[in-house]
Amino acid sequence: MLVGKRIVFFVLTINLVSCKIQDVQEKGLVTSKAMVVSAHPLASQIGADILKRGGNAMDAAVAVQFALAVVYPDAGNIGGGGFLVFRKHDGTPDALDYREKAPAAAHRNMYLDQNGEVIPNLSRKGHLAAGVPGTVDGMVQAHQKYGSLPWRDLVQPAIFLAENGFPLTKKEAVKLNEEQKDFIKYNTRRPAFFLKKRWEEGDTVVLKDLAKTLGLIRDKGRAGFYEGSTAELIEAEMNRGKGIITQADLANYQSVWRKPITGQVGNLKIISMTPPSSGGIALIQLLTIAQKFPLKEWGWNSVKTAHVLVEAERRVYADRARHLGDPDFYQVPVAGLLDTAYIRKRMTDFSLKKATDSDVVSPGTPAPQENPHTTHYSIIDAQGNAVSVTTTLNSNFGSKVFVGGGGFLLNNEMDDFSAKPGAPNSYGLVGEEANAIAPNKRMLSSMTPTILEKDEKLFMVIGAMGGSTIITTVFQIIMNVVVHDFPMQGAVNAGRFHHQWKPDWILSEWGALGPFTGLGMWLKGHKIAPKTGGIGRAAGILVLPDGRLEGGAEPRGDDAAAGF
Ligand code: GLY
Repeated sequence: MLVGKRIVFFVLTINLVSCKIQDVQEKGLVTSKAMVVSAHPLASQIGADILKRGGNAMDAAVAVQFALAVVYPDAGNIGGGGFLVFRKHDGTPDALDYREKAPAAAHRNMYLDQNGEVIPNLSRKGHLAAGVPGTVDGMVQAHQKYGSLPWRDLVQPAIFLAENGFPLTKKEAVKLNEEQKDFIKYNTRRPAFFLKKRWEEGDTVVLKDLAKTLGLIRDKGRAGFYEGSTAELIEAEMNRGKGIITQADLANYQSVWRKPITGQVGNLKIISMTPPSSGGIALIQLLTIAQKFPLKEWGWNSVKTAHVLVEAERRVYADRARHLGDPDFYQVPVAGLLDTAYIRKRMTDFSLKKATDSDVVSPGTPAPQENPHTTHYSIIDAQGNAVSVTTTLNSNFGSKVFVGGGGFLLNNEMDDFSAKPGAPNSYGLVGEEANAIAPNKRMLSSMTPTILEKDEKLFMVIGAMGGSTIITTVFQIIMNVVVHDFPMQGAVNAGRFHHQWKPDWILSEWGALGPFTGLGMWLKGHKIAPKTGGIGRAAGILVLPDGRLEGGAEPRGDDAAAGF
């Protein structure tokens, strides 16, 4: 408790001296027809150009995914995976799971030593951390089902950037400088294109090998990545670095169209990602709990509001740890977890007066199933089609391993499995049987690409990066707009906090809770830890009452909205 006290007073002091006013009333870019919001201005512009040329939201999504793989290599990717949620202009929802899979040679104890202890970093860095990438297959599938422009026109803008170079932003230069040691340590072929004594803002990055790989994808589609020379390069890289992905794993990879998770909370319909992401279920659980409390009256991030959100998050993340995993391998009790009576029952031991100890909060018992460093971008086109995509390599720059000769990074998504029951992953998340490693299984995710309808009309496209904090970031942004009436940009600007059951503390951005709320929370028994560098990075588009679109681009990153 002494440690808890020290932490909270540290946070209070920091809050008092550094509490910069977050402009929660700031309005973002407003356009009349179409918009893209992504983590990089060049990627947003490429997406907006595709929309201007008559491409639809899915065309733009494909072009933005490949552009991010070039200009935002910490999370944009072709060597990773993601989830895409779609809402056609007539309201029909769809969802694409292009999450990575465990290679066929993966097994439950692959990250444990002979004493059964987790070997540090083995699932986080280097060749063994990589799952079989899903991005290229996902983009091919998305384009085949919903695209309208020729495939090659959507890949070409990324090739242009990789071949001719692009200027580094200040934040990207800082990140590349931080990775230099790992790039040397974990690569079997020096990735000269990213090695430099010191990267500066404005330096030009040219990625010739990546341009070549993208050229194969442009010309051959799926076969340009999962077969032929790219597949050979990936297998050769694995052999040099003692990884286990084979050409057969690549040939066997398939992304999957899934029925999105939907839920009605008041006049909002939530359309979000189904397992193997935990995002959709957790978000609907959180919104359902929050709806029962007069949060508007209590005020944004007041002690009572923050306490309710934290207590809801504590219980929802306990459910995540027990019940969620790849539905192709584990019977996830989706209907039980989304049952309103079940969700409300989870709060029966809640007290407005004091924090609950996470050790006494167990996962709930929903009715069993009856039937058998990430980035997000949001798009709305002129016809009203909406796409919400979250894509990732997992940590910043994934496994840190570039495929020699291929010029692209491989993910470290295997760390999203539970290496051992109760052993925390890099986000501190714990898991059990539902998320144990098995060959060809998909690892559980927190990605929450989401589309909201209000009164049956398209209302918001939203999602975020941030590992375990993705869900709570999306949750708080929705609450900021729906309950507290912030504009889209203000809702993204606003300070965030996060609780995930275990470890039992609130992560709080500087200034997010403010000194009085911080003190009030501490008096209720909450422990608070400061989170430097911010929580999550979000990208949102709000449909305004007059039909125009307002962007919410992340001020914590280089994000930008573009549209017309
Ligand atoms: N790799 C982060 C997530 O999928 O939750």
